[in-house]
Amino acid sequence: MSTEPFKNVVLLPQTNQLLGLYTIIRDQTTRRPDFIFYADRIIRLLVEEGLNHLPVTPKVVETSTNQKFDGVSFLGKICGVSIVRAGESMEQGLRECCRSVRIGKILIQRDEETALPRLFFEKLPEDISERFVFLLDPMLATGGSAAMATEVLIKRGVKQERIFFLNLICSKEGIDLYHAKFPNVKIVTGAIDSGLDENRYLVPGLGDFGDRYYCI
Ligand code: PRP
Ligand code: URA
Ligand code: MG
Repeated sequence: MSTEPFKNVVLLPQTNQLLGLYTIIRDQTTRRPDFIFYADRIIRLLVEEGLNHLPVTPKVVETSTNQKFDGVSFLGKICGVSIVRAGESMEQGLRECCRSVRIGKILIQRDEETALPRLFFEKLPEDISERFVFLLDPMLATGGSAAMATEVLIKRGVKQERIFFLNLICSKEGIDLYHAKFPNVKIVTGAIDSGLDENRYLVPGLGDFGDRYYCI
């Protein structure tokens, strides 16, 4: 795994704790209940890190000891947008941090032969252009699916600077393709893998995230 800095990529601190979580979900012998549990823990960390990048405004409160506390409060509205199917696994982690957050969906499927993405539908909040958008998909491999989803958001008037793409594993070439198109979108990730195999799957990767989370 690389720790090289990429511009506009926020890599979670590579602690032993995080490495332990990735070791479990990357292990091919890990069964679905554990895969879900430990993937969810990483997702929660990604959401918390994404929230760190939202703007705040100063706010002073009085504490129970009748003292003033110089704090902050969050500014602006947010929403999540999941790239169906695998991205839906990240919705709960977002809801746990942002109660009753609005969530849009973009259905994109990668063709199994060509690895090229196809867009099937989008359902997004009407006022999405006024919101900060957490784009959710655990895997960034070639970058084609994320780029296609981001194109949809841009067409709906969302500014690149307001999009945060949260993902569990990305490839260097996926980051490069994505940032060549959308340099101002921040990618928040927990792992940058070295490459892709002949089927355009991440290596070392973890296989098909959607299948492991939902099916097998
Ligand atoms: C996976 C993954 C991403 C995409 C990544 O989804 O969730 O959306 O592939 O690959 P890319 O960067 O090369 O485009 P897939 O289309 O397999 O569908 P799924 O969510 O149903 O598993
Ligand atoms: N989709 C996945 O689920 N895994 C990969 O490695 C690539 C695309
Ligand atoms: Mg997908």
